[in-house]
Amino acid sequence: KKRILSGIQTTGNLHLGNYLGAIRNWEGMQDEYDCFLFLADLHAITVPHDPKLLAENTYKVAAAYLACGIDPERSTVFVQSHVSAHSELAWIFNCITPLNWLERMIQFKEKAVKQGENVSVGLLDYPVLQSADILLYEPDLVPVGEDQKQHIELTRDIAVRLNHQFGKKKQPVLKVPDALIRADGARVMSLTDGTKKMSKSDPSELSRIEIGDTPDLIKKKIKKCKTDPMRGLEFGNPERPECNNLLTLYMLLSGKEKDAVAAECADMGWGQFKPLLTETAIAALQPIQEKYQALMDDRGYLESVLKKGNEKATTIADQTLTKVKDALGYARPL
Ligand code: TYM
Repeated sequence: KKRILSGIQTTGNLHLGNYLGAIRNWEGMQDEYDCFLFLADLHAITVPHDPKLLAENTYKVAAAYLACGIDPERSTVFVQSHVSAHSELAWIFNCITPLNWLERMIQFKEKAVKQGENVSVGLLDYPVLQSADILLYEPDLVPVGEDQKQHIELTRDIAVRLNHQFGKKKQPVLKVPDALIRADGARVMSLTDGTKKMSKSDPSELSRIEIGDTPDLIKKKIKKCKTDPMRGLEFGNPERPECNNLLTLYMLLSGKEKDAVAAECADMGWGQFKPLLTETAIAALQPIQEKYQALMDDRGYLESVLKKGNEKATTIADQTLTKVKDALGYARPL
C-alpha cells in the first residue's frame, strides 16, 4: 500500500476549510492508503499559547478527526509531541537548511507581520519541523490544502539536499514525497471576504464556519456573509469570488456534482440560495457534532487510540531517524 501523512495544528477550533480542504480527503483515502494522521501540538506553540488549553486542544482535534470519519482501525492517529523523533530530526534539518529558504516562506511573512517584535525562532522554523513530520514516515503523498503547497515544496527541497549531501547515488536516505491538493475545496474562502482564505486566526468569527457551530450560529453567519448584487449564481467568475466560494461550499457539503449545482442555482437569487446553503451545512455537520460529543465524553477511548497510534508511529519514525543519523556519521548510541 502507498502511504499518506498529514496533520493539523492543535490551535483553536477546526473550520470548514480544515474539513473540506484536508480531513474529508483523508477520510476517503483510508481504504486505499496506509494513513498516518497526527495532531501538530509542537506547531501549536509557535505562536503564544495558553498552557491550560494545550492538552485539551489536542484531544479536541483528535475527537474531530474521528468524528469526521477517520477510523483508528485503519489509520494511525498520533500526537506529534509524543514522538520525540520529530524534534530530533527537525534539529538535524535545521543544520542543513539555508536560512533564506525559510525567510521567503509566505506563511511566515504573513504571520510575522501580525506579531511584530514577538516573532519567535520557532515561527521561522515551523516549516523545518513540518518537513521532519513528513519525511520521518516516508509517505508517497501529503494531502493538504493549497496554503501548504510551499511547505511541501520546502520539504522536498530539504530531502533532496540531504540526499545529495549524505546519500549514496543509488540509495537516497530520504524518500521525496508529493503534495496532494484536490481541485475542489483546496482553498475555502472567508465568508466576509471571498479573496481571503478561511482561517482560524481571522479576528472575525463571522468569517468562518466552525465544525462545532450550532444551527443558529450557522444561520447567522450565512445570513451575514458577503455576497454581490448580480443576478443568478455561477462558478468561476473572477469578479464574483464570494459567489464561487459559496457555491463550492454548497457543492461539497451536499455531495452534488458541479454541473448539477450550476444548473440548480443558475437562476437563483441570494434570498433563495442562502437558506438552502444554511440547511445543507447544518445537515452535513449534525452527525459529525453528535459523534464529536460522544467522543469528548469518552476520554479513555481517545487515550487508547492515541496510545496505539503513538507506538506505531514511534517505531517507524525511529527507524528513519536512525537512518539519517547513520548517514550523517553519528556515533551509535551505546
Ligand atoms: P493547519 O492546521 O493550518 O491546517 C490544516 C489543514 O487544513 C487546510 N486548510 C485549508 N484548506 C482549504 N481551505 C482553507 N481555508 C484552509 N485552511 C486550512 C491546510 O491546508 C491543512 O491541510 N502546517 C500545517 C500542519 C502540519 C502539517 C505537517 C501538514 C504540520 N506538519 C505535515 C501536513 C504534513 C498547518 O498549519 O495546517
